[in-house]
Amino acid sequence: MSVMNAPEREQFEYIEKCRGLIGEWSRKKGRNICYCVVTFGCQMNARDSEKLKGILEETGCVSAPEDEADILLFNTCTVRDNADRKVYGRLGTLKEVKNSRPDMVIGVCGCMTQEKTAAEKIKKTCPHVDIIFGTHNVHTLAKLLYRHLSEHTLTVDIWDEAREVAEALPVRRKYPFKSGVNISFGCNNFCTYCIVPYVRGRERSRSAADILTEVKRLSEEGVVEIMLLGQNVNSYGQDLPDDGQKMSFHELIRAVADTEGIERVRFMTSHPKDMSDELIDAIAAHPKICNHVHLPLQSGSSRLLKDMNRRYDKERYLELVGKLREKIPDVAITTDIIVGYPGETDEDNEETLDVIRKACFDNAFTFQYSKRTGTPAAAREDQIPREVVTRRFNEVLSLVQEMSRKRAALWEGKTLPVLVEEVNEKEEGFVTGRLENNMSVHFKGDASLIGSFVNVVLTECKGFYYIGEMK
Ligand code: 5AD
Ligand code: SF4
Repeated sequence: MSVMNAPEREQFEYIEKCRGLIGEWSRKKGRNICYCVVTFGCQMNARDSEKLKGILEETGCVSAPEDEADILLFNTCTVRDNADRKVYGRLGTLKEVKNSRPDMVIGVCGCMTQEKTAAEKIKKTCPHVDIIFGTHNVHTLAKLLYRHLSEHTLTVDIWDEAREVAEALPVRRKYPFKSGVNISFGCNNFCTYCIVPYVRGRERSRSAADILTEVKRLSEEGVVEIMLLGQNVNSYGQDLPDDGQKMSFHELIRAVADTEGIERVRFMTSHPKDMSDELIDAIAAHPKICNHVHLPLQSGSSRLLKDMNRRYDKERYLELVGKLREKIPDVAITTDIIVGYPGETDEDNEETLDVIRKACFDNAFTFQYSKRTGTPAAAREDQIPREVVTRRFNEVLSLVQEMSRKRAALWEGKTLPVLVEEVNEKEEGFVTGRLENNMSVHFKGDASLIGSFVNVVLTECKGFYYIGEMK
């Protein structure tokens, strides 16, 4: 292992100190101290949660369901207000629980806490919360936990920006055979509706050397599938110094795919304005780079796209989709769509429907526009009435579903490799795996298959997933 830097050493010291306190607590209870990390939101948060879990395990805690947890952390999302509401709802119900189990530790972290007034609001409305921290200091959990356990006071520590890098800390992966790898943090794009640049900060790319070292280590630990994570992977590296080591995204992804033992590489999320021909060529040429591109459209109306500060228009987006489909014939293209952005007209929505028809998305996540305080779009007076949004949303959703069913039907009857991920909880004797295009397949099998590739005939398409038979 490489030499640790000062922040990493500091955190390991706190992990050791926590170990002592957790040990005492455990002896007093006559059982293990249990933790649970509840994750809201995107893949970035899921990855942060794996880091939080890694730290908690190292302090001697063991994983448990939410209702048995002595230490319960909520890793929050704030991209839309329903995510916020869910967290406050869950925190509200914990008031009683905490009354009956006063030694329980409740923490809130993640994107929501980075909002200017959030910490105050949590303190006021949820006095039973013990620790509040943000997205820039996930790695300091042991320090904050130690402070709370030794002083029994509310511990709040939210950083405005990333101050230090601590990469050598433990991580507890959800799956032994696949892993996310952060390639950049934050976002520079300031789409007018989006709160991410405010809560995750400016884009910071990790060095290619650090990323490739992590991928190599993961491969040695048995990981076969890597998901490269960034808010905008296509602009990876642009902020790095020109030191001869710098790579652009297409170079990086090829290098990751060339790592011994790695069988599949995915990436998320692409911004259409930065998607290069070189990246499309890399996906087409490299068998280990999955033929799946998540390419958020947001709106099909060039007028709204301009207003949203997306820096592409309808024509450019469709051109890109055409290029992807031409160069990578079996590519799966998925997208995000926002319905009801301020000022949206029925004509704008028609444009969105037109793109959905023409692009024929394999899958699309559709969202109703949500006002996020502090973003330019939230201050606009031409917000769209709820019932109009609902009507347009339903139109978009039903077309999206029609298109994805059409796309999915194309693979019916084919035999394709599947990476088996888990035992199917709903159907006894079945397992669930994923195709290269990210679709799920359920088929007869047992836990011994988890983590391996098997060939499966896709016997029946169920719209968003397949039923199959192992060859
Ligand atoms: N309202 C609705 N959807 C949003 N997204 C981001 N901000 C908002 C908002 N204010 C969606 C975008 C983005 C996805 C992660 O979340 O579609 O691509
Ligand atoms: Fe938000 Fe736009 Fe950045 Fe995506 S690219 S995180 S939508 S600001």
